[in-house]
Amino acid sequence: MGILLSGRGSNFLALHAAMERGEVPAEVALVVSNVADAPGLARARALGLEAAAIPHAGEPSRAAHEAKVASALAAAGVEWICLAGYMRLLSPELVGRYRRRMLNIHPSLLPAFPGLDVQQQALDWGVKLSGCTVHLVDEGLDSGPIVVQRAVPVLDDDTAETLAARILEQEHQAYPEALRRLLTEPWGVEGRRVVFGAS
Ligand code: GRF
Repeated sequence: MGILLSGRGSNFLALHAAMERGEVPAEVALVVSNVADAPGLARARALGLEAAAIPHAGEPSRAAHEAKVASALAAAGVEWICLAGYMRLLSPELVGRYRRRMLNIHPSLLPAFPGLDVQQQALDWGVKLSGCTVHLVDEGLDSGPIVVQRAVPVLDDDTAETLAARILEQEHQAYPEALRRLLTEPWGVEGRRVVFGAS
């Protein structure tokens, strides 16, 4: 498993902990961050995992940066990728290379509120339910086939921060669950639907 992150890395830690408990039959081969001082990278190193800072700053182009990320993933033998708060768009080429083997987690019930400032978007819209979505990555923004969703009620006195914190608790359950199911059950994609039990 390759993990790409840009920040604190709590979803990465939840995935890693589930692997350590034997709930997800995978191992982290490499953690990559485009942010050299991302806390998630330090956490990976503290766990003794391979961790690489590959900053985008200073690279001549998006493609040049991504080529470095891709070759680090390939060198580490990465077969699947989990995006865990990775704040860079990926090229169609990299998405194609890991098609149906790349996951992302997003803190809303997609297709509502893709993109950034998601909890504030949910509060501004006035939704009564939000949550999180684990999805396969395609070429769009937060648009790939959905694997697992978990709903979280929006409370009248919620702020973006309190709502984000409650959603994050569910993210830490949903991400390992999605990966475990994809790795241990038969599944397929029918149209936009991820269907478990398909052969
Ligand atoms: C999470 O809310 C995730 O849904 C989003 O970015 C955030 C990453 O948090 N894609 P963390 O770095 O995993 O703590």
